Amino acid sequence: MERPDDTGCIRQQPGPAKLCADWNDESGWALPAVRGPLPGPLGVALIDVLARHESPGITARRARQGEARGLSKDPIAWVRAAGANVWDADGNRFVDLTAGFGVATIGHTHPAVTAAITAQASRLLHGMGDVFPNDRRIELMRALAEKGDEAGGLTQVILGSSGAEAVEAALKTATLAARRPGVLAFWGGYHGLSYGALAATAYKADFRAPFSAQLGTHVRHLPYGCDPGLIDAFVAGPATCGESIGVILVEPIQGRGGEVVPPAGWLAALREICDRRRLILVFDEVYTGLGRTGRWWASQLEGVRPDVMAVGKSLGGGLPIGAALARPDVMRAWGDSQGEAIHTSTFLGNPVVAAASLATLEVMDGLDIPALARRFEAATRDFFAPHGIPVRGRGGMLGLELGSAGAAARVMGRLLRDGFIVLPSGVLGDILGLTPPLVLSDAQRDAAFQAILHAVAAERAEASPLEATTESQP
Ligand SMILES: Cc1ncc(COP(=O)(O)O)c(C=O)c1O
Repeated sequence: MERPDDTGCIRQQPGPAKLCADWNDESGWALPAVRGPLPGPLGVALIDVLARHESPGITARRARQGEARGLSKDPIAWVRAAGANVWDADGNRFVDLTAGFGVATIGHTHPAVTAAITAQASRLLHGMGDVFPNDRRIELMRALAEKGDEAGGLTQVILGSSGAEAVEAALKTATLAARRPGVLAFWGGYHGLSYGALAATAYKADFRAPFSAQLGTHVRHLPYGCDPGLIDAFVAGPATCGESIGVILVEPIQGRGGEVVPPAGWLAALREICDRRRLILVFDEVYTGLGRTGRWWASQLEGVRPDVMAVGKSLGGGLPIGAALARPDVMRAWGDSQGEAIHTSTFLGNPVVAAASLATLEVMDGLDIPALARRFEAATRDFFAPHGIPVRGRGGMLGLELGSAGAAARVMGRLLRDGFIVLPSGVLGDILGLTPPLVLSDAQRDAAFQAILHAVAAERAEASPLEATTESQP
């Protein structure tokens, strides 16, 4: 790994020479330290480059228009992270309450993961996907099968490189097993943005609108948590959509949709419908999986067993990976390979990513991630309930209900200036998502709670000055 030079800066070519001004705190468990404007001059220089070369639809342009939406002018540029801390290009230190989109569950750059990556990097960097499997990939299959067994015997695996790929592999598997082309998914669901996954994603209309003509009609949507009777009627006949439904795809708790927990018994009702009508039930556990909700799989919260499951995010410990897991009798629908796999990719089962994932799973077991998630939930509820801020979600996947559309982005901007990284969630942007590395220290967590309380009070005061003077007193 590159080390800072004697001025405390990393130097890389090409690109701006100075990427980091201060590199002193190595621990990962420190409180925030923000010393200047955000972003600082080094961050601005990086974002200038980004704005010139990245598609305007991605980072830079969005942030530069963000002033009107209450975001800071430009995003900070991350240059380093450890534990629950992230450092930006100007040496400001933050506490990350997002785990980088739910990835860094065991903390950023966990030493066991970086050691596994380093060791593997000099052994075998690249394998040959489906043709010549590598040893790390095979080991990972075994480890994943052990975990998948707990979700209901899901012991066979297809690997990929992202959550969206995992969802697509899961949908292909389910479609082969169901032998019917239609898929039922749910409003507010987020399953990724590649074409196959986007067909199922119904998070916000503008994510789909420009491409809707290319998304096909095989996926139909109903409201998340709606009356199971309606779902049963919907899947009952081809008359409803011209494609008979063979697959139900669902997040057991919606993540980007706003940490939405379905009504008690709803997932079990889906299971019952699938059993009765011989449909395949796919759980998208890309976000919820691997301990985040307080159980290894969110499906276990209600004791419901999916037939197929998509996994991603935290599995790679920070490296990109996705996996579809299924019961052997469901996976058998692929048949035997005829020499050329009809589902594969160049980097399938990449050995470095597989080594990182193996190390991550081992660390997760050692830390008892589900227990840490439950502990975080209890602390969050205890803290915010007396202040009248409703908390939803489960385990380490929580949302604070701020009560007005767009409020979360403004609170996010305030918190960033205090050194805490959060994300808005929910279709209306009224939910402040809390999905931190579950290893964050109590001091980091408590400081974050105080900062959030102040930021929410300030937001309320600005939105409604009279009410807030009375309401925001703890
Ligand atoms: C539930 C769920 N499924 C799928 C995805 C897509 O994963 P990726 O962004 O790795 O493609 C996400 C991403 O946030 C997700 O939350």
